[in-house]
Amino acid sequence: MPAARFITLEGVDGAGKSTHAPWIARWLEERGVALCLTREPGGTPLGERLRDLLLDPAQRVDAKAEALLMFAARRQHLVDLIEPSLARGHWVLCDRFTDATFAYQGGGRGIATARLALLEEWVQGDRQPDLTLYFDVPVEVARTRLLANRTLDRFEQEQRAFFERVRAGYLERARQAPQRIRVLDATREIAQVQRDLAGILEPLVERP
Ligand SMILES: Nc1ncnc2c1ncn2[C@@H]1O[C@H](COP(=O)(O)OP(=O)(O)OP(=O)(O)O)[C@@H](O)[C@H]1O
Ligand SMILES: [Mg+2]
Repeated sequence: MPAARFITLEGVDGAGKSTHAPWIARWLEERGVALCLTREPGGTPLGERLRDLLLDPAQRVDAKAEALLMFAARRQHLVDLIEPSLARGHWVLCDRFTDATFAYQGGGRGIATARLALLEEWVQGDRQPDLTLYFDVPVEVARTRLLANRTLDRFEQEQRAFFERVRAGYLERARQAPQRIRVLDATREIAQVQRDLAGILEPLVERP
């Protein structure tokens, strides 16, 4: 089996990350990959409690505090789960990671990306995902999906303009790291998106 990979899933709320995560996990496991499926913010007891606060519509959270809490949860996640998993040869599939911070706290909230980049370097060192699957959908499509399915969390209650900035933030990140970030057209049927995913993942599990 090739070296353990760190794969992240990104996209605006409603793009389909959590829909595809278990499917990707099963697809990899069927090919002999030992895998840890996790999410951000979260993935550790501390991170999950920070997640509850970050998503709680009753909280008023300052933008800088929000960015710092995201990186605090991420640091704990890296130290307790992501790095140890990769070290023992387990792949890590993570529903959201640092690209989400650039998109939401950067694009959405307007925090300078240079400042987020400093935190990224402090918290992660050289660690970057080996592959990021970015599920791209127009904000309107994502919105319609969410409204049909659930009560909205603190981020999901934001206005359309916020999500337009988030999407633009993601697309800018994808433009800057085209080798790492694969952009999927997530407006199409789930089965079609899965065919695209299989095409991207196939080379990762091929034996040399
Ligand atoms: N390609 C698709 N076509 C139609 N519906 C979809 C598609 N992908 C996902 N959905 C539906 O859209 C809704 C939102 O999807 P999902 O929860 O996977 O999004 P998400 O990216 O994880 O969002 P969040 O960031 O809010 O967690 C779900 O009800 C899901 O079934
Ligand atoms: Mg989700």
